[in-house]
Amino acid sequence: MPLKLVFATNNRHKLEEVSHKIGDHFELLTLNDIGCMEDIEEPGSTFEENAAIKSKYIYDKYHLNCFGDDSGLVVDALNGEPGVYSARYAGEHGNHAANIKKVLTRLEGVENRKARFVTVISLMWEGKEHVFKGVVEGTIRHKISGIGGFGYDPIFQPDGYDITFAEMSMDEKNKISHRARALEKLISFLKNIK
Ligand code: IMP
Repeated sequence: MPLKLVFATNNRHKLEEVSHKIGDHFELLTLNDIGCMEDIEEPGSTFEENAAIKSKYIYDKYHLNCFGDDSGLVVDALNGEPGVYSARYAGEHGNHAANIKKVLTRLEGVENRKARFVTVISLMWEGKEHVFKGVVEGTIRHKISGIGGFGYDPIFQPDGYDITFAEMSMDEKNKISHRARALEKLISFLKNIK
């Protein structure tokens, strides 16, 4: 019998990426699958806090092993912004064009373009929290480039490449992305549990 594991998301795209890698050791359930219709708020000031809020909420309320994630872009010259506000940096949740514009405007004339994408996954397993972090370092371009991906991808150039995330194929991005790196750590932990 596969072990039940909740991924505290209703994002199909994220779910598919994880299901694909996790194999059939686990029966992966979404928030919808367990009848959780609440919108879990993300009031934390760090990725770690936000990821833990989700996993602990589900574990405490439903008594199911569970993991939650939180990701974002961290720009050195902006003192770590947009950070936990990545999805709503320009005000409206998920307005990627406005978010990009705000970053580019704030970086006008700024030489230090260093930035990184970060994903933190918090897993609540049998009542104990385990944290997995994935990071990809890079720089912020002066202009958008590419049409793939989502979010800040058109302005983020990972170190060691001369193209942005938005110019990469999904497979290529998924090999080096912050999310993929955090997921790899989660999955190797889970494989050792079984
Ligand atoms: P989430 O926590 O994975 O939902 O990510 C929050 C926000 O961070 C997204 O809405 C995007 O603005 C940004 N973000 C996270 N991951 C990526 C990525 O892989 N590419 C571009 N933007 C991202």
